[in-house]
Amino acid sequence: MSRPAGQPAVAGVVVLAAGQGTRMRSSTPKVLHTLGGRSLVGHVLAAAAPLGAGTTVVVVGSGRDQVEAHLAEIAPAAVAVVQEQQLGSGHAAEVALAAVPDLEGPVLVLNGDSPLLTTGTLEALVAAHDAAGSVFTVLTAEVEDPTGLGRIVRDEQGAPRAIVEERDATDEQRAIREVNAGVYVANAGTLRRVLAGLGTSNAQGEQYLTDALAPLVEGGAPTAAVRAEDPDDVLGCNDRRELAERRRTLNDRVLDDLMRAGVTVVDPQTTWVDVTVAVGNDTVLEPGTQLRGTTTIGSGAVVGPDTTLVDCVVDDGASVVRSHCLGAVIGPEATVGPFSYLRPGTRLGRGSKAGAFVETKNAEVGEGSKVPHLSYVGDATIGRGANIGAATVFVNYDGVAKHRTTVGDHARIGSDTMLVAPVTVGDGAYTAAGSVITSDVPPGAIGVARAPQRNVAGWVRRRRPGSPAAEAAAAADGRAEGSGTNAPKNIGADHDS
Ligand code: UD1
Ligand code: CA
Repeated sequence: MSRPAGQPAVAGVVVLAAGQGTRMRSSTPKVLHTLGGRSLVGHVLAAAAPLGAGTTVVVVGSGRDQVEAHLAEIAPAAVAVVQEQQLGSGHAAEVALAAVPDLEGPVLVLNGDSPLLTTGTLEALVAAHDAAGSVFTVLTAEVEDPTGLGRIVRDEQGAPRAIVEERDATDEQRAIREVNAGVYVANAGTLRRVLAGLGTSNAQGEQYLTDALAPLVEGGAPTAAVRAEDPDDVLGCNDRRELAERRRTLNDRVLDDLMRAGVTVVDPQTTWVDVTVAVGNDTVLEPGTQLRGTTTIGSGAVVGPDTTLVDCVVDDGASVVRSHCLGAVIGPEATVGPFSYLRPGTRLGRGSKAGAFVETKNAEVGEGSKVPHLSYVGDATIGRGANIGAATVFVNYDGVAKHRTTVGDHARIGSDTMLVAPVTVGDGAYTAAGSVITSDVPPGAIGVARAPQRNVAGWVRRRRPGSPAAEAAAAADGRAEGSGTNAPKNIGADHDS
């Protein structure tokens, strides 16, 4: 490469994203459809970002408000340039370059709908462009089925001559299996000049970017066409079937990388991992696992089966089984599930537990504390070593505002306790099963807040005569005659299995 070390590979990046994407049949602009945790245009921008271009232009048109809002989020430094009418990819590139008149040097131009492009492929293209001293270099691929794509026409020496769109191709040209990827590196000045001269005499009556090549060749300018190493890289995405295929390919790549790095993926067919996710070695992903967004998983963890984690942190040795978790932080060796729902603001401490049928939100569960069964824990701080009995509800909402509950270290909340916030149960305190706790329980005390039990003797035999219950009661009465009383009851402070 002639480029001095430290120089960016290209001066500018132009992403063409104004097309309507009619074939998606969607009210969402095509480039905003997502796969693997990013939009189509997001993948293209992410692949190009490491090239370090000083200027990035995205051409928007169809659904431009939505696309511009998305760009402001994912690539605030990119300049959105509006192409009022979609007159073709050549026109789109022309509009882009007109918006940055001072841009000089090599420019990378890419279609916005090629989500499998990798940085490596783009770097190889730019390196080949440099090495050939080219003014216009197109990325190509040999594909099994070239249907719908532009064909690369080469001369007897193998030098590129033209790119011919399928609709405009002769039968002979249609047989060519080397296709245009829709990715180009060109000298900015050369590209401006040649685009200004493009006509629209083709089957679609559009100004084709692909028509830039032939006049340059005819004028004797140095050009090149470089094959991508992996033909999958260049695949576009024009309809929902292609979107599903690209999603599968991208997922296969992500899982391959994870497996190479020491992650066990039990069933790659049913495991879906976004490109933005990190997983440590010796972690096992069971079938039906989806890891999305900024999710990060440590080493030696187990996730799944049938678990979705969105923007979660799972620390080393934790396990999350058949659960749905959003924005939760799951500490080392903590266990979740089966069948639990952890919502944003959940933080499970080391070795803690959110067991079966537990929902949590804005809840800190301290080290070693357990919420084993059937509970809602909202807006709560639970200390260390506490046990929350089955069917406890943190009653956080009074219909107007949310309030917080604090449960101290080693507290034991009896089964079916309602903790009516704001309320505090002190360190080492208990609550009796079935209590509705509306005022603080001091450290070491037991809060009992339930109606005393009243037994009405003989009620069943009087009021439900002839029923199986009455018969059973009669038999028991017979046995009880002369045989003492029932064993004493405990207070039912908790339920711990
Ligand atoms: C294009 C190429 C084709 C190539 C294929 C690779 C042209 C004429 N053809 O075909 O050779 O094999 O990509 O996937 O370029 N766009 C605009 N404004 C417009 C028209 C298009 O911004 O007025 C954008 C689209 O949003 C899209 C890109 O340009 O990102 C390509 O347009 P598209 O209609 O998808 O072209 P293809 O038919 O796929
Ligand atoms: Ca396309």
